[in-house]
Amino acid sequence: MYPWLKAFHLIFVVTWFAGLFYLPRLFVYHAMSEDALSKDRFKTMERKLYSGIMTPSLVLVALMGLALIWQMGIAWFAATTWLHVKLALVAILVAYHFYLGHIVVRFKTDSNRHGHVFYRVLNEFPVLILIAVVVLAVVKPW
Ligand code: HEM
Repeated sequence: MYPWLKAFHLIFVVTWFAGLFYLPRLFVYHAMSEDALSKDRFKTMERKLYSGIMTPSLVLVALMGLALIWQMGIAWFAATTWLHVKLALVAILVAYHFYLGHIVVRFKTDSNRHGHVFYRVLNEFPVLILIAVVVLAVVKPW
């Protein structure tokens, strides 16, 4: 059971990150677009990516992760410092996810307040968390 849970944990990490990387990219193009047809198309793409792929992936990553902890037992969990640090970083990533959801609504209601440069910079953030979390989970330094 444990290897299967880990496999699907990682599969949903990949699908979640596909969206975490691509959605701010859509915001870049959306912020640069001027005609109504393009804007409507971006709204549909953003809504489907966020609600259809990213949020279900986030839920499944968390469920698989919690199931892995449950399989290993509470004593193991209490002793694994790297996992505590990882979960703190994942909490920041979850906040970022919901912030992206807030931006989706802003675009949907035509009340976006940022330019394309803002979204280009925002797009870099999940890379830092990805590197830190994967190194922690694989190297397990503490
Ligand atoms: C609520 C969220 C999460 C929980 C509760 C969680 C929990 C876990 C647990 C318990 C393991 C097994 C560790 C072991 O066997 O030693 C694991 C493995 C792993 N997790 Fe997560 N995780 C979460 C989110 C994430 C995220 C967002 C990423 C990537 C950015 C990630 C990347 C990994 C990797 C790469 C492994 C495999 C480590 C290995 O055994 O080589 N996890 N996770």
